[in-house]
Amino acid sequence: MQFAGSHILSVNQFQRPDIEGIFSVADRMRPYAHREKVTRVLDGAILGSMFFEPSTRTRVSFGCAFNLLGGQVRETTGFEHSAIAKGESLYDTARVISGYSDVIAMRHPESGSVADFARASRVPVINGGDGANEHPSQALLDLYTIKSEVQGRGGSIDNLRIALIGDLRFGRTVHSLCRLLCLFDDLTVYLISPQELRMPEDIVETMRSAGHKVLETDELEANIAHVDIAYSTRIQEERFDSKEEAATYRGRFRLNQNIYTRHCEPNTVIMHPLPRDSRAGANELDNDLNDNPNLAIFRQADNGVLVRMALFAMILDVVDQVDREARSVSWYIGSRY
Ligand code: NCD
Repeated sequence: MQFAGSHILSVNQFQRPDIEGIFSVADRMRPYAHREKVTRVLDGAILGSMFFEPSTRTRVSFGCAFNLLGGQVRETTGFEHSAIAKGESLYDTARVISGYSDVIAMRHPESGSVADFARASRVPVINGGDGANEHPSQALLDLYTIKSEVQGRGGSIDNLRIALIGDLRFGRTVHSLCRLLCLFDDLTVYLISPQELRMPEDIVETMRSAGHKVLETDELEANIAHVDIAYSTRIQEERFDSKEEAATYRGRFRLNQNIYTRHCEPNTVIMHPLPRDSRAGANELDNDLNDNPNLAIFRQADNGVLVRMALFAMILDVVDQVDREARSVSWYIGSRY
């Protein structure tokens, strides 16, 4: 696809070479994201960051990615701090904010809303999550993480065995990830969820049509025994009719060190889009996994910056200029990566 000037609304936009292109630009962003070098390639550019649902990683990493390329960020968070609370339409908001920004990152609770917003916008819009529908930049960073983790041990995305665990009905990260996985070959996918929270049928069918072996189950332990990746998710409480209904599913699938040791192959990579729900009744990924070297969740969150930098550089068409005026950082950077 042509990235310069394009919206990023769904992973369905991508073909395999597009993914490979994004990943190779993301690799080139590492010295900047890891504070070894500074670039000012987007000096003067403005990101409009509009998050109408709670967000920590996605919102902050979009902002950091833009800052690390030298651009500025203007944010609005929550409906209550925006003119939408006064009855303004998404159309009007898009017309206005796109006059103030060079690119917009947006999250909204309704499926399809970011695409509606993009139709009215005068600048590219990146979907930071629209209801239970899609979260394309998260799927890209998840896949980038999978690739990095399995490559280190001689594996590849093709032929991967992956378990997706938890709320597969409302989890937009797993919806986008499954669609993206259809671009690869011969995967075995275990979809582990309560019956009522199964992956939407159309996504399961799309994966089967792509030639993947897909198994749907509500049994955790037997189905994480032979996987390269165990990807856990949070019960998406905010998408249920009531908190009480969500609570009936919380804590159903818990992965902890004991279960991992007893059931998983020794190098199974543990992922989660985060936030993990660490309240006692939930605890889908126990804190006792924190010292497990295969717990990739924080590497996964770090990778969000690389992938989002790549998207900005490609959409604003500066990939070849990033290194041009790079300099070394002058402050203490430590060894956090
Ligand atoms: C996810 C989301 O918002 O869809 N979080 C994220 O962006 N990393 C997953 C979640 O909230 O459970």
